[in-house]
Amino acid sequence: MARKFDSGEGAMTRVKRGKFITLEGGEGAGKSTQIRHILAHLTAVGITALATREPGGTPHAEALREVLLSGRAKNLGPAAEAMLFSAARIDHIENLIEPALRERKWVVCDRFSDSTRAYQGAMGNLDARFMQALEQVTLGALYPDLTIILDIDPRLGLARAAQRRGQGEGADRFEGEALAFHKALREAFRDIAEREPLRCVLIDAAQGEAKVAAQIIKVIDERLFDARLRARAEALIHDSRPAQ
Ligand code: TYD
Repeated sequence: MARKFDSGEGAMTRVKRGKFITLEGGEGAGKSTQIRHILAHLTAVGITALATREPGGTPHAEALREVLLSGRAKNLGPAAEAMLFSAARIDHIENLIEPALRERKWVVCDRFSDSTRAYQGAMGNLDARFMQALEQVTLGALYPDLTIILDIDPRLGLARAAQRRGQGEGADRFEGEALAFHKALREAFRDIAEREPLRCVLIDAAQGEAKVAAQIIKVIDERLFDARLRARAEALIHDSRPAQ
């Protein structure tokens, strides 16, 4: 049976919950940098927001992250890896994401279920019905309100990831895959964006940090803000313009 997410929007109370934003994309696309920009923007308009990541976010899920990224689960095959990522996700949803959304906080998550679709489902050539069923059981009714997919040529992304890692440290389980893997992964993410345009927005991540941030913030304002928040965001942009 699928998990049920209590959205807090009971017919009688119509209590609002926070919004759930996820960032996706290949290695070195700049997700963590952009999450910092998103948090700063949300805070500036008066929204309480928190950043989290997958795999991880809670102690149990972080323990599974260790196993998954060390490559120790690789020999179990992509279906088992998909289930382990999903197990970590269930703990993360139940103990961090859902409680925060119910408290009307906004949650910004570095990777979520689209990573399982792309890395395990598409790249592991897993059965589509298995992947759908696993996703439904894992997420219940909790789908992201907005998913930003950062699109980048994997050659550039992997070079950035290697630079960030510094010398001496090895690549993790997925960074260590061949370039052909990362090219196919890029296509898998582009495919998700194309199939679900109401939830997903594809953004060219090679444009440079400031331009990418401006585009993401525009999408958030347009898609997730109500009139009151939009007015606040516009006032902020106005205030930050240099005087003529
Ligand atoms: P991380 O160091 O957080 O990488 P990145 O900066 O690229 O996000 O490692 C997460 C890795 O786990 C990344 O290579 C993608 C992979 N992953 C999956 O394969 N499936 C999943 O469901 C998730 C959430 C991540």
